Amino acid sequence: MERIQICAIILLTILEFTTSTSELKFYILEEQNEGTYIGSLKNESLASPPFLYNLLPPSIYFHLDKQTGDLYTTAYKLDREYLCPQDILNQCMVEIDVFVSSQEHAEIAKIKIFILDINDHAPFFTDKIIELAVQEDAAVGTIFPIDHSASDPDAGQNSVLIYHLNSTDDVFVLGNNSQLLSFTLQQPLNHESKSEYYMDLIVTDKGLPPLSASALIIVKIMDVNDNCPVFLTSNISINLPRNTSINSTVAKLEAVDDDTGENSIIQYIYSNRVPVESQKLFYLESTTGIIRLAEFIHDDTPNNHKLKVLAIGPGCVPAVATVTLVIQEFKRKKPKMEFRLIATQEEEGVSVEEDVPINTIIAILEIRDPDYSILRPVYINGTIPFSLRVSENSPDTYLLLTSGILDFELKQKYKIQVLGNATFDNLIVYQASLNVKLEDVNDNAPQFSQSVLEASIEENNNPGAVILTLSAFDKDSESNGDISYSFGGELPMEFSIDASNGILAATVSFDREKVTSYTLIVVASDHGSPAKNSSCTVIITILDENDNAPIFLTNELTFYVPENLPRQGKVGILNVKDADFGVNGEISVSILNTTLLFSVDQNIIILEDYLDYESEYKYDLWIEALDKGNPPLSTTVKVIIMVLDMNDNAPLFLLPESNFSYVLVPPDTSKGSPVTKVHAVDYDAGMNGAVRYSGFGEVGPHSDLFTIDNITGNITLKESTTGHHCGLYHFLVKASDQGYPKALSTIVRINILLNHSISNRSYLESIIMAKTEVPTENQAILLSPCKQYHKMAQFSWSLNALIFLGIVILCILFCGTGTLMLFCRRKGNAKRRKKADVQIPLKLNADYWNNIK
Ligand SMILES: *[C@@H]1O[C@H](CO)[C@@H](O)[C@H](O)[C@H]1NC(C)=O
Ligand SMILES: *[C@@H]1O[C@H](CO)[C@@H](O)[C@H](O)[C@H]1NC(C)=O
Ligand SMILES: *[C@@H]1O[C@H](CO)[C@@H](O)[C@H](O)[C@H]1NC(C)=O
Ligand SMILES: *[C@@H]1O[C@H](CO)[C@@H](O)[C@H](O)[C@H]1NC(C)=O
Ligand SMILES: *[C@@H]1O[C@H](CO)[C@@H](O)[C@H](O)[C@H]1NC(C)=O
Ligand SMILES: *[C@@H]1O[C@H](CO)[C@@H](O)[C@H](O)[C@H]1NC(C)=O
Ligand SMILES: *[C@@H]1O[C@H](CO)[C@@H](O)[C@H](O)[C@H]1NC(C)=O
Ligand SMILES: *[C@@H]1O[C@H](CO)[C@@H](O)[C@H](O)[C@H]1NC(C)=O
Ligand SMILES: *[C@@H]1O[C@H](CO)[C@@H](O)[C@H](O)[C@H]1NC(C)=O
Ligand SMILES: *[C@@H]1O[C@H](CO)[C@@H](O)[C@H](O)[C@H]1NC(C)=O
Ligand SMILES: *[C@@H]1O[C@H](CO)[C@@H](O)[C@H](O)[C@H]1NC(C)=O
Ligand SMILES: *[C@@H]1O[C@H](CO)[C@@H](O)[C@H](O)[C@H]1NC(C)=O
Repeated sequence: MERIQICAIILLTILEFTTSTSELKFYILEEQNEGTYIGSLKNESLASPPFLYNLLPPSIYFHLDKQTGDLYTTAYKLDREYLCPQDILNQCMVEIDVFVSSQEHAEIAKIKIFILDINDHAPFFTDKIIELAVQEDAAVGTIFPIDHSASDPDAGQNSVLIYHLNSTDDVFVLGNNSQLLSFTLQQPLNHESKSEYYMDLIVTDKGLPPLSASALIIVKIMDVNDNCPVFLTSNISINLPRNTSINSTVAKLEAVDDDTGENSIIQYIYSNRVPVESQKLFYLESTTGIIRLAEFIHDDTPNNHKLKVLAIGPGCVPAVATVTLVIQEFKRKKPKMEFRLIATQEEEGVSVEEDVPINTIIAILEIRDPDYSILRPVYINGTIPFSLRVSENSPDTYLLLTSGILDFELKQKYKIQVLGNATFDNLIVYQASLNVKLEDVNDNAPQFSQSVLEASIEENNNPGAVILTLSAFDKDSESNGDISYSFGGELPMEFSIDASNGILAATVSFDREKVTSYTLIVVASDHGSPAKNSSCTVIITILDENDNAPIFLTNELTFYVPENLPRQGKVGILNVKDADFGVNGEISVSILNTTLLFSVDQNIIILEDYLDYESEYKYDLWIEALDKGNPPLSTTVKVIIMVLDMNDNAPLFLLPESNFSYVLVPPDTSKGSPVTKVHAVDYDAGMNGAVRYSGFGEVGPHSDLFTIDNITGNITLKESTTGHHCGLYHFLVKASDQGYPKALSTIVRINILLNHSISNRSYLESIIMAKTEVPTENQAILLSPCKQYHKMAQFSWSLNALIFLGIVILCILFCGTGTLMLFCRRKGNAKRRKKADVQIPLKLNADYWNNIK
């Protein structure tokens, strides 16, 4: 509370500074309870409010309301007797200064508070029993001083004492001299009749109500009759130089006693009313009466001393002498500078927060100079961010202000040395210094060395693995510079950070294949109030480990390959993946089987040789995918390559054995009778190997005599034969497979001799063998239209010459009619060709008929 208000005061920027010329006086009774109103400063202020009032320095006895300027007592009671022990005139006064400040104006008001006495102390005797000796021959009316007066620490009427003597007889009465307590002898004494008198000395003060005390006086009546000591000089005044050396004689008191012998011995003692300090400072030799200086005279030694010395002789009332001592000022005091602190007081000066604005008041400097003439102004030694501003009213009062920016981080302590010059005979320099300790304010945020940090960690780490240690620096000290680390934004589940040492660790085991990098915000906050912070982006890359084997997208791979795939053709593409990164994810695919038939290039299976469905239609390959990690990981799959059959084989005739085979069919065979049978095989599979038969052409004496079953290959007669059908027939049969897209076919020639028997086998065979052409699809058999075979055989044996002649005639005829027939046949052929187009490709058809011609 106190601190805050002082801060509020020193933060004011003062334009004008004065010290008050008028003084305020307040009166308060001592021993008042806490919170007793003493007075207010408010109406006394010079300028308009708002003002702030501050005691300078703070006092335990007074509480000043900062805003109203009302002054109150505190729990510490004002004890006049303690505060002003010397005061007897009830003029106890305490001076306080109040620093009154507003935005434009500041002043120091001097306040005098008079603490009025109350009768709170009774008078008291130092000795409760006072013993006196009186000679029996003392004359009536003799005055005997009593050096045992009472005292009362109160002041004024409360300390005015009235003595009263309570005695049973009227031998002694109190003297009426108010200066000296004494009593007077009223009646003659006789030691023999009464040697001791007892009386009560009662003292009462004039307070309201009065307080009293008493002491017992015992008067002994002495039998001896002699002289008593008398001071030669009972009133001595001495001026003592301040530089008097210790043990030197200050004064010598001399008393004489006319007696001789033992009765003349005089003892000198201080009256017990001499203050103890004075008794210590001035040593009284009891035998000689010499007063010596016993201690060094300090600056704060009181100047005035009143020494009451008693000379005591045996059986005598003591003689009294007074030495009045004045210690002389001779030394000139240097001017004195004094700081009155406004900023928070420290052990060795003041403390100021580093962020206070310029012109903040730190202290007030006051100069007191009783002896010298001072040269103005005083000044600050050196160049520091502080300055002095003189009061308008008093040239010897200054404000000490800040005049520059204070930075704890640059300098934590200043020693302000204020120097002043003064002259008397010569120039002297006097000084005062004040230590200013700066207090750190949290004016710096922690700083990371980089705003973006990159780090990496291998995947499959142990949870708790340290990734990196973050470090920020804060220029502030102590808690303002203590840094805590935390995550900014969303809290990452995968990481933890040690708040005190900035160690960033993983809390999980990372899988690079799921997340490859993380971006975190780390905040460094100091512990100031309010705290400052700054943040840093941390990018954490997860490094790959070869923890994933290559993967084939399907476990079993089957490729279907046509058997006619060319060499270096692509059999199939293997889809392989590896989730790892870099070389860990680079895959090489190889065939585990040592085979010359297939190879792998990248991830493509390549055919190295020819396939043949008919020899092998299925291949099992073990294929391995291997990554390049260390150690490498691999996966092996079984690849099945199915060879697809192609229609690469034409039907092959097993029956008839050749184009030159022949069958004999008797002439009188009924319609539908089987003539012969063809049979062809095809090595292809499926439809590629399904053989169908069809007639392809027929050459003979009659046309369209045979038909063939398209499935069984049975050749049957279309009509019943008679004798005029006889002759050699060539029936062409085509065997076709059902291949797609292109069917293959083979054509075979069936030689059929329609006759009763084979009369001339060799001739027949020679005719047949003359037709050497192998019937292929592209090539039809060429057969000349034949004569009736049986007729030629009949006539052969009778007329060879006629044959020759017939041949010649026939040749001539043939040449003539051949030309005619060719013409006619071409015309007819055009019609048949259209019919044949359905079964026979156009080209073949043309070739065939060309060949026939
Ligand atoms: C201030 O002075 C005025 C007039 O002298 C008086 O009326 C007023 O009560 C005073 N205020 C205080 C707080 O003493
Ligand atoms: C005075 O002395 C007498 C006798 O000793 C006693 O009774 C009386 O109370 C005393 N008076 C005072 C005021 O002490
Ligand atoms: C003291 O009293 C005596 C008689 O008792 C009288 O003569 C004398 O004047 C008085 N002195 C004072 C100072 O009152
Ligand atoms: C002692 O001297 C002072 C002044 O020097 C004087 O006031 C006082 O009355 C004198 N006292 C005696 C008993 O002579
Ligand atoms: C005291 O000071 C005076 C004047 O300066 C000088 O004369 C004297 O010798 C000094 N005495 C001692 C004891 O130093
Ligand atoms: C003071 O002087 C006396 C007498 O000359 C001597 O006996 C004594 O020792 C001295 N004391 C000191 C402290 O010098
Ligand atoms: C002023 O300050 C400087 C540096 O601290 C110091 O050396 C010098 O003695 C000071 N001057 C005085 C008069 O003290
Ligand atoms: C004070 O005295 C010093 C020499 O000791 C001098 O340099 C300086 O200017 C003087 N300052 C003032 C304000 O008189
Ligand atoms: C950082 O400081 C800002 C204000 O300066 C505050 O809003 C924010 O909450 C602080 N962040 C942390 C993590 O303390
Ligand atoms: C490849 O190896 C497997 C297993 O050893 C075997 O079954 C398969 O026939 C082999 N394939 C070839 C083409 O050698
Ligand atoms: C085979 O011949 C029969 C009857 O002549 C016919 O119905 C059938 O479609 C033919 N089949 C083929 C494949 O030509
Ligand atoms: C003709 O085919 C049938 C079945 O269709 C068969 O029974 C018969 O034996 C065959 N004839 C010849 C000569 O092969």
